[in-house]
Amino acid sequence: MSEITLFNKVFEPYLPESLIQEKIYALAELINSDYEGKKPLFIAVLNGSFMFASDLFKSITIEAEICFIKLASYKGSKSTGQVITAIGLDIDITNRHIIILEDIIDTGKTMHEFMPQLQNQQPASLKVAVLLHKPDATIFPMPIDYCCFSIPNRFVLGFGLDYDGFGRNLKEIYQLKGAE
Ligand code: IMP
Ligand code: MG
Repeated sequence: MSEITLFNKVFEPYLPESLIQEKIYALAELINSDYEGKKPLFIAVLNGSFMFASDLFKSITIEAEICFIKLASYKGSKSTGQVITAIGLDIDITNRHIIILEDIIDTGKTMHEFMPQLQNQQPASLKVAVLLHKPDATIFPMPIDYCCFSIPNRFVLGFGLDYDGFGRNLKEIYQLKGAE
C-alpha cells in the first residue's frame, strides 16, 4: 500500500485489506451465533456501507434478509428541524430483528435521528453494526452494538468511504495525512 493523492489531499495507508476482512469475518461469526433462528433483517445504509454489507453478508450462514436504503434529510417544520427519511425500505420491520449496517459513526447525528423512527415501527429488536467508529468525534449518544474498528478522529477513505465522491473503490482504508 502506498500513499494516494485526491484533490491535492494526501492519504496514507491505515487499515490493510487482510485486517478488514478478518474483522468483518469475526463480526459475521458473532452475528451468526447471536441471531441463530431469528431470521434477522439487515438494513444497509447506502452509499458508504456497500462493501462492508457485501463482505459481511457473504459470511452470514444463518437465514437472513438484507435490504439497502438511502437516507435523505430535508428541512421539516420549525419544531421538527431536520428530518431524516429512509428511501427504499420496502420490507415491513414490525416484529423483525433488525441490524443496521453503517460504514462509520462520526458525530452520530444520522443514526441518532434515524433510529427512533425505526423503533416506532416496533421491530422485535434493533441493533447497529458499524465498520468504523470515531469515539472522539461522537457528540450524539449512540449505543453501538457491533463495531469492527474504533479509530481516531481523522478523515478516512476507501472500502466504500469517499472523499467528495471518489475513493470508494479502494480495497484498503487510508487516512488523511498530517491531520489531527
Ligand atoms: P455522522 O456524523 O455520524 O452522522 O456521519 C455521517 C456520515 O458522514 C457517515 O455515514 C459517512 O458517510 C460520512 N463520514 C463521516 N466521517 C467520514 C470519514 O472520515 N470519511 C468518509 N466519510 C465520512
Ligand atoms: Mg454513511
